[in-house]
Amino acid sequence: MADGVFRDGLLAGKVAFISGGSSGINLGIAESFVKAGAKVAINGRNVEKLEAAVKGLQAHGTAMGVAADVRDYAAVEKALQTVREAYGELDVVVCGAAGNFPAPALGMSSNGFKAVMDIDVLGTFNISRAAFEHLRKPGASLINISAPQAYLPMAMQAHVCAAKAGVDMLTRVLAIEWGGSGVRVNAITPGPIDDTEGMRRLAPSDEGRDKLAQALPLQRFGKKQDIAQLALFLASEGSSYITGSIMVCDGGQSLLGGGALMAALGM
Ligand code: COA
Repeated sequence: MADGVFRDGLLAGKVAFISGGSSGINLGIAESFVKAGAKVAINGRNVEKLEAAVKGLQAHGTAMGVAADVRDYAAVEKALQTVREAYGELDVVVCGAAGNFPAPALGMSSNGFKAVMDIDVLGTFNISRAAFEHLRKPGASLINISAPQAYLPMAMQAHVCAAKAGVDMLTRVLAIEWGGSGVRVNAITPGPIDDTEGMRRLAPSDEGRDKLAQALPLQRFGKKQDIAQLALFLASEGSSYITGSIMVCDGGQSLLGGGALMAALGM
């Protein structure tokens, strides 16, 4: 059964590829897409994690896993070709692979900064660039997973702020370049979402998480399903006139500025 407000079979006959799909928000999106009838390929670096996630998805429908590091263009091309051969042309691509560790700029090496830039910005470019020829058009949808750090400067997040700002701009540029081919390109900006690696890294203590939740306008963390609902919308015909949009789903966090998040987390 499709999640939430969406009808059953919303993505029936569609093929989706989700990078970073073996955990967190991206796995939540994968699960919703499978339940909505899509054939879903998830991609990740860790084969064991990938296989476990695929097994879980297969309980709800059709899914496969393809291992590749999004920083490696040749590996990304190969992964997409494997999915094309198994499931046919793609309809939806989600670029969700991301890196993060909290550290001040002086506490991260040049290589640490580069690791996040490469996973987030180069990885998003690589997937998008390599997926274009496989995307069924018109009606195809590319969805990038961004973060509030793209427009809210936050201490301990120099790499993520720079990277996600790049992801947002890439989203807008590709929307312009690919609109004529019928490929829509949008981004989702999740706020603090429960039970994700990102939040575990940013807010390791229960106390910090409670403080942050209370500071939010909606006074709760989001659920993975909150993001999955938005992804379902952006993947479906219902959003056919939306491209180049950066859609915020954050319980109102961004209204408060980055300072509120840093204060709640004691940064
Ligand atoms: N503090 C400071 N530097 C760190 C660090 C930390 N907590 N974690 C990693 N780094 C540095 C490493 O020291 C290394 O730099 P060096 O070569 O100068 O020592 C650099 O980052 C690359 O680390 P490495 O482990 O070789 O690379 P990687 O390709 O595995 O990427 C991460 C490391 C941390 C970026 C990546 O594993 C990651 O982000 N994992 C978490 C995923 C996640 O949280 N996803 C949700 C995002 S919202």
